[in-house]
Amino acid sequence: MASATEERIGLFMCLCLFFFLHFSTSTAEDPIPAPWPEQFHSVLFLNRSGSLRKQDLWYDWPNGRNFNIIQYQLDVLKYDLEWNNGTTFLYTLDPFNHTCQVTQYDVGIPRPNWLDGANYLGQQYADNFLCNVWEKVGFIWYYEDVLTKRPVKWIFYDGMITDVMTFEVGAVLDDAHWQAPDYCFNKAEPEPQIHNRRSSFSLDLETAIVGDFRWTLMSEMR
Ligand SMILES: *[C@@H]1O[C@H](CO)[C@@H](O)[C@H](O)[C@H]1NC(C)=O
Ligand SMILES: *[C@@H]1O[C@H](CO)[C@@H](O)[C@H](O)[C@H]1NC(C)=O
Ligand SMILES: *[C@@H]1O[C@H](CO)[C@@H](O)[C@H](O)[C@H]1NC(C)=O
Repeated sequence: MASATEERIGLFMCLCLFFFLHFSTSTAEDPIPAPWPEQFHSVLFLNRSGSLRKQDLWYDWPNGRNFNIIQYQLDVLKYDLEWNNGTTFLYTLDPFNHTCQVTQYDVGIPRPNWLDGANYLGQQYADNFLCNVWEKVGFIWYYEDVLTKRPVKWIFYDGMITDVMTFEVGAVLDDAHWQAPDYCFNKAEPEPQIHNRRSSFSLDLETAIVGDFRWTLMSEMR
């Protein structure tokens, strides 16, 4: 016959097991964000404090490249070409003035699983889609369609909202379009800037903001 002490130990172990199972099943039940497809094209609408833009995103992980083609409302079309070796070309083409800024980041493009470890916040309607919602490092709130697992929307900590209009899995932009123009290369001083959070003072404000986003996306989200 078991002593009172043995019974208490047995009860204690049962309770531990119960809490362990309860805890592990409740976290296991939380949905996790679908990884990004290795290659896709999306048309995005972005709104930063009422300043609107349409953006074509060509994510191409196997080739180590990511392209944002940014149409500012009634303004310039900008090309933001990012390589996994950290080099980013930000340029304009005809009919706009030829400009190009080359920036060297110390991190590459986000990995397909960059949302791993995000905190699940439950379900919410966004743009008329029932979504699972996650938050990651206080930087991004991410909305994914419950039914199709496609991204619907994300919001950065500064309030900038991105709405996903199309999501073409497997779409790849031709190699010819991934070539930055000549004037990105024939600078008198070809030494690229090294950019990280601590050196953003060397850049103008818009670039610094973009750089800070990029830095956070590429480092904390990798
Ligand atoms: C853009 O966001 C602002 C708030 O930052 C909001 O007042 C405005 O209605 C939004 N515009 C569009 C077209 O969504
Ligand atoms: C990174 O790759 C791009 C595309 O191949 C190239 O133009 C650029 O010079 C590379 N940057 C570095 C630092 O090697
Ligand atoms: C384009 O360049 C011309 C000549 O240098 C300049 O007058 C004009 O302001 C520039 N346009 C833009 C949008 O920067």
